[in-house]
Amino acid sequence: MKSVLEVIDKQEWLDKAGEAIQPAILDTFKAGGKTGKQVKNLLHGKWLGHPVHPMITDVPLGAWTTAAVLDTIELCGNKQYKKGADAAVTIGLAGAAGAAITGLTDWTGTTDIERKTGLVHGLLNIGATALYLTSFFLRKKKKSRATAITLSMLGYGITAMSAYLGGTLVYNKQMGVNHTAIPMGYPEKFVAVLPAKELKENTMKCVRAKQVDVLLVKKNKKIYAIANTCSHLGGPLSEGELVNDCCVRCPWHQSVFSLEDGSVVDGPATQAQPKFDVRVKKGQIEVKLKYGWV
Ligand code: FES
Repeated sequence: MKSVLEVIDKQEWLDKAGEAIQPAILDTFKAGGKTGKQVKNLLHGKWLGHPVHPMITDVPLGAWTTAAVLDTIELCGNKQYKKGADAAVTIGLAGAAGAAITGLTDWTGTTDIERKTGLVHGLLNIGATALYLTSFFLRKKKKSRATAITLSMLGYGITAMSAYLGGTLVYNKQMGVNHTAIPMGYPEKFVAVLPAKELKENTMKCVRAKQVDVLLVKKNKKIYAIANTCSHLGGPLSEGELVNDCCVRCPWHQSVFSLEDGSVVDGPATQAQPKFDVRVKKGQIEVKLKYGWV
């Protein structure tokens, strides 16, 4: 599959299309103000703690697989499952709408090859859904039954290709995966990371604690520490900006995390940042993992 990604990566028109479409979607959410922000976070899956999109894709995939099986039975001469096949196509269409809106929202938080691959994934899904929608209407007409089934089968083939690309985005490009999930390497006991006098008020500093980068922030004389690697796609939070009094915004796709507890304030991230306990001992700032992925 690497060669497919290479072919996609060479398509400059995908970059141009992405650069034009992404801001338009983000502007639409922004125009909705606070509600727009809430809807965006809802569609990303902030409330769930992981992306909603992969869950919803099971609905069209499962329903259309069912339709393909029942249609095949019908083609073999047994017509008793006709209604079941038609219902499965309809359920798949409803699921496809949910998958499209959540997928499109997640896609706004991508760049480079992920954005290009996501765009191809989306275009394939639009093509497949259009075929299923046509099939849905043709199924109502007796004379068009064979054409309706043919279109569904064609749509199923395209859906399978699209699903493969969706899997590639997750397994090869780690989209939707928690980028702070390192099985080992978080300090479970206090370790010294920085002389206290080197951390100035209202500044961010990335330090190393055991095998992880930790973001230190001093605000109102209190020191906060959360994982520096953004859970969304691994952006360096220390290169972002301090916002909303006690939050940090990621420089890559603008997720916002609370410094108090590492929770997601705004997506595209859906998973919280690991949080560290902090103390100052013998002039050194020391941290140890409070909670998060270990
Ligand atoms: S890496 Fe995407 S928001 Fe941080």
